[in-house]
Amino acid sequence: MVISPSRRLRWPAACLALVLLAAASSVLGIGIRAGHADDTVKDPYLGQQTAIDDGEQIYREHCIICHGKAGGRGPDLFAVTLTDEEFLETVLNGRPGTVMPSFASMLSHDDIWKVRAFVKANPNGI
Ligand code: HEC
Repeated sequence: MVISPSRRLRWPAACLALVLLAAASSVLGIGIRAGHADDTVKDPYLGQQTAIDDGEQIYREHCIICHGKAGGRGPDLFAVTLTDEEFLETVLNGRPGTVMPSFASMLSHDDIWKVRAFVKANPNGI
């Protein structure tokens, strides 16, 4: 919080800081809510073949070992009913208490969107 030299200035300064924070968060989108996807976040790569091909590589490298060609040790991601946002958050955060790991330090949001585009393009598995 802002520390101001005079007591009279403290509240106005705090309000100004909040206004600036709100402005920054709307400009930066998900910026200051680290680790949480924005409610309006949508997969920008759905239906785009190049991204789908990239997503397949990432899936084969990081996910197929558990999620298989249509489910395995983990659920069938090709039939997953999560929203785009829920999918992103699950992959970023993992599922604590299960073997589903967090990929936040390994995959970018774009990488995860490409995997999502890949599984959505193959609803019956591969
Ligand atoms: C070490 C095994 C493992 C790996 C690797 C793995 N997962 Fe998972 N995943 C799981 C398990 C097990 C679950 C089910 C967790 C539960 O019980 O909620 C799961 C759940 C999920 C879910 C939620 C599905 C649902 O219907 O709720 C998504 C999405 C997901 N994984 C995506 C991925 C993606 C994308 C990758 C690769 C980048 C990946 N996982 C890699 C084991 C794994």
